[in-house]
Amino acid sequence: MALGARERYTSGMPRYVCPDPAATRALAARLAQGLRGGEVLILEGDLGAGKTFFVQALAAALDLDPAIAVTSPTFALVHEYPEARLPLLHADLYRLGDPDELIELGIEDRLDEGGWVLAVEWGEPFVEALGGADLLLRLETTGPEARALAVEPLSARGRALVASLDR
Ligand SMILES: Nc1ncnc2c1ncn2[C@@H]1O[C@H](COP(=O)(O)OP(=O)(O)O)[C@@H](O)[C@H]1O
Ligand SMILES: [Mg+2]
Repeated sequence: MALGARERYTSGMPRYVCPDPAATRALAARLAQGLRGGEVLILEGDLGAGKTFFVQALAAALDLDPAIAVTSPTFALVHEYPEARLPLLHADLYRLGDPDELIELGIEDRLDEGGWVLAVEWGEPFVEALGGADLLLRLETTGPEARALAVEPLSARGRALVASLDR
């Protein structure tokens, strides 16, 4: 693994209340503004909490051509959008057994290459195998249209991203 483990911080977690999909989309757009490439974002939360929705909003905020559909990588496990303003990799590791499979999926190549934004659903068990991560987003369903997003920085970069969310 080319990347060293990122510095870990423990801190209070900001929690963002998103009363409707537009609010979640706006939060993703704000996060996208702070991205410069190379970030690893981990998304956790029950089925339907909005992990894929958040990545779709992120892709849109990164100016991905709307003609390119961002769909859940449930079966392929990894979808790539090199056409976005920052190249975006979207993974869903729910069905991943062994961290070694990260290599087969090409995720390690993208980490080595650098510059890619990695958005990884169900990635928390694989943070170490990924060589660290920057941000852990925990999504929670609080109503039919309402979600809460707790954002935990896992690195110095992650802290900067969290700070940029509140600016
Ligand atoms: N406030 C909200 N934020 C995000 N998604 C929402 C919200 N309210 C309703 N939804 C809906 O919840 C669903 C989330 O599905 P999805 O993103 O596939 O979840 P996951 O990937 O976590 O399983 C989408 O159909 C989305 O439109
Ligand atoms: Mg999903």
